[in-house]
Amino acid sequence: MNHHVFEGDITTLPVDAIVNAANESLLGGGGVDGAIHRAAGPGLLAACRALPEARPGVRCPTGEARITGGFALPARFVIHTVGPVWHGGQRGEPALLEACYRESLRLAREHGVASIAFPAISAGVYGYPADAAAAIAVRMIRDAPWRPGNVVFCTFSAAMTRVYASALG
Ligand code: APR
Repeated sequence: MNHHVFEGDITTLPVDAIVNAANESLLGGGGVDGAIHRAAGPGLLAACRALPEARPGVRCPTGEARITGGFALPARFVIHTVGPVWHGGQRGEPALLEACYRESLRLAREHGVASIAFPAISAGVYGYPADAAAAIAVRMIRDAPWRPGNVVFCTFSAAMTRVYASALG
């Protein structure tokens, strides 16, 4: 399995699927979510808005994932997943972050995705400690029963690149 770190803007990657660190509304936001919606264009928001609500205002509960087309992105698909907000680690955050990777891989497999890029889910606005988030990301990919042939961990700073390089050992 080929997995490596790429430092840069995930929206530029010519992979089959990029993973979006979204919020439960799936209606966009800041960070990588904002970048992906800007690069994909308005069709992405329309596709997200068309997804059914699990409950009022929630199209993707934390720990789950939804897939849409990539629209103006180089990627064919966007897999939207919602990571946990960090509250100190005693409110199920690790298990929810693990579920983000598991559910993203499940959708990738169902859609024949051969290459995928993950951002550092929850390690930005949601405040998950970077080293712990990266350790979960690497372990969930390495231990997965199935994964795409090419997996990219996309970092957006030299500091995060160092964190992922360390997690990859
Ligand atoms: N490409 C790759 N990585 C990026 C990009 C980009 N263009 N922009 C930001 N990142 C990185 C951040 O530096 C961080 O390391 O993505 C990681 C995740 O940070 P956030 O985007 O803040 O995501 P998260 O912590 O999961 O918080 C999600 O933020 O943007 C809102 O709508 C989103 O409410 C949700 C929350």
